[in-house]
Amino acid sequence: MCGIIGIASNKPVVSNIIQSLKKLEYRGYDSAGIATFANGFIDEKKCTGRVDNLEKILFKNPSSGSIGIGHVRWATHGIPSQINAHPHSSEEVSVVHNGIIENSNEIKKDLEKKGYKFKSQTDTEVITFLLTDFLKDFDLINTINKTLKKLNGSFALGILFKKFNNLVVGARRGSPLAVGYGPEENYLGSDSYALKSMTNKITYLDDGDICLLTNNKVDFYNSKNKKINKEILTLSSEKHTAEKGHYKDFMSKEINEQNVTAKTCIKEYVDQIRRDINLYNFPIKPKEIEKIVLIGCGTAFHSCAVAKYWFEEFTNAEIEIDIASEFRYRKVQFKKKNLYIFVSQSGETADTLAALDLCKKNKVKTCSIVNVVESSIARLSDFVLPIHAGPEIGVASTKAFIGQMLVLYILAIKISEVRKELSGPVYVKKINELKKLPELIKKTLLCQDKIQVIAKDFLQARGAMFMGRGLSFPIALEGALKLKELSYLHAEGYPAGEMKHGPLALIEEGLPVVILAPKDKYFEKTISNMQEVIARGGKVILISNDNNTVTSENVRFSLEVPKSDEQLTPFIMAIPLQLLAYHVASLKNCNIDKPRNLAKSVTVE
Ligand code: AGP
Repeated sequence: MCGIIGIASNKPVVSNIIQSLKKLEYRGYDSAGIATFANGFIDEKKCTGRVDNLEKILFKNPSSGSIGIGHVRWATHGIPSQINAHPHSSEEVSVVHNGIIENSNEIKKDLEKKGYKFKSQTDTEVITFLLTDFLKDFDLINTINKTLKKLNGSFALGILFKKFNNLVVGARRGSPLAVGYGPEENYLGSDSYALKSMTNKITYLDDGDICLLTNNKVDFYNSKNKKINKEILTLSSEKHTAEKGHYKDFMSKEINEQNVTAKTCIKEYVDQIRRDINLYNFPIKPKEIEKIVLIGCGTAFHSCAVAKYWFEEFTNAEIEIDIASEFRYRKVQFKKKNLYIFVSQSGETADTLAALDLCKKNKVKTCSIVNVVESSIARLSDFVLPIHAGPEIGVASTKAFIGQMLVLYILAIKISEVRKELSGPVYVKKINELKKLPELIKKTLLCQDKIQVIAKDFLQARGAMFMGRGLSFPIALEGALKLKELSYLHAEGYPAGEMKHGPLALIEEGLPVVILAPKDKYFEKTISNMQEVIARGGKVILISNDNNTVTSENVRFSLEVPKSDEQLTPFIMAIPLQLLAYHVASLKNCNIDKPRNLAKSVTVE
């Protein structure tokens, strides 16, 4: 999960590379670097930290050149440091890399025996030296393919060769890479988002592909050294902007626009006149589905966990949820009558992509729910349901979570209606209730001031707990994930009924415990669990849509959220938790959009 950019032009490229790297920072931001050709040499500049630091270095000591590559890093092999930052260059070759080379230690030993001296702790430097070594005896394409054959693992590469100083070279296996076509220049990017400001004409590389870019030509080769033709796609025009506007950071913008996210998504799927859901060319007849398997990572997995309750409520089909990094390595029984649904904001998450690939190899029906419609997951799956949330830049997923849940909810009611498990009138009622959701989300967002007060209470805490039952249990997991991800405070989410089986031991005087208790069939039971927490000194923050029913002077904060259809409470309950994480992190001066150690798009295992 690093970001790669390459530009082959006939004019200076440094400033465009820097601008693109800034866009790619969501993929990694612990170090950055650039390499260009200048006066017959490879000029490499790199630094720890953000692209701003690289810009300062270039301001003092400018680079020139019309051919260049750049990189933002999310450390895998070796600590974030200037030496470990990419590019990694020899006299002859400069390399930027996204992915992991699993056999780098063995290759390194062989290269050291040949006299190559390694400067960094990265796995990338072996690529630089392998290329340098093969180049002594082979032509360019042979050199690249011979190098790639030595590598185990997944990667996307951007390469400069001193000997071919009009070329930017790209290659991929497992990690995404795209080529963009511009006027008198061509681009290489680890995703189309980085290229979008420069072009909407894109070619995606497939595994084993190599591309050679000059300012006016792009050639593709396969792993057998043969020239190949590739399709040029025109990307969809993006109505949503990726600007912060008047917001302090992307995350607050993304939280606050969730009513619009919901509105757009509902508009895309719900036919307002017929009061029906548009779902054409679905890859499997809903009536034939025996089991639905929902797969994702992190927040996307939490949306699957919420959806399990919906599907189970509305259909008779068997429902299973799985974390992609587990699914991909288990001995799964693939069945033709199962539908495998992959949920991912970025559509590039390595584990989710690998799980999908496994399904494709086993020839079962797949569907993806993504935000980025040009992503690898969208392109590989049989059917795509976009969430239409617009670019999500903050590393912590918020509006994409709402979008993912919405599409899953829409799918659950549509499939159940087609299967005749949901009657016509109930189906129409569900659609009518759904149409009220954007307004309810807007009202929920008004709780900001109260949340700011509650957030102050978390500053002294050593940790926090989140509890809920039924649909609120996965939301408790999501609330805990948001808090730990943004504020670095230890947080755990639990099914409230599970507390007595161990977690209750964690409750001590002053520990903040967020109780999610919408007025549903679990309400009384959750409130009893809340009393157990209070009795042990826990500092309870109760979030409910019926707070009047609860009278306990020992509840520290009681937040009332709008009432909704019972099945829609996850959308409402998630919002105060996102805001809570945001405000705690903000009070602790944490980097909201770029929390430590994380990246937006997890393209390594
Ligand atoms: C959410 O706040 C996280 N940053 C993370 O859990 C994320 O949801 C996960 O990495 C999956 O990403 P995806 O939706 O792009 O596949």
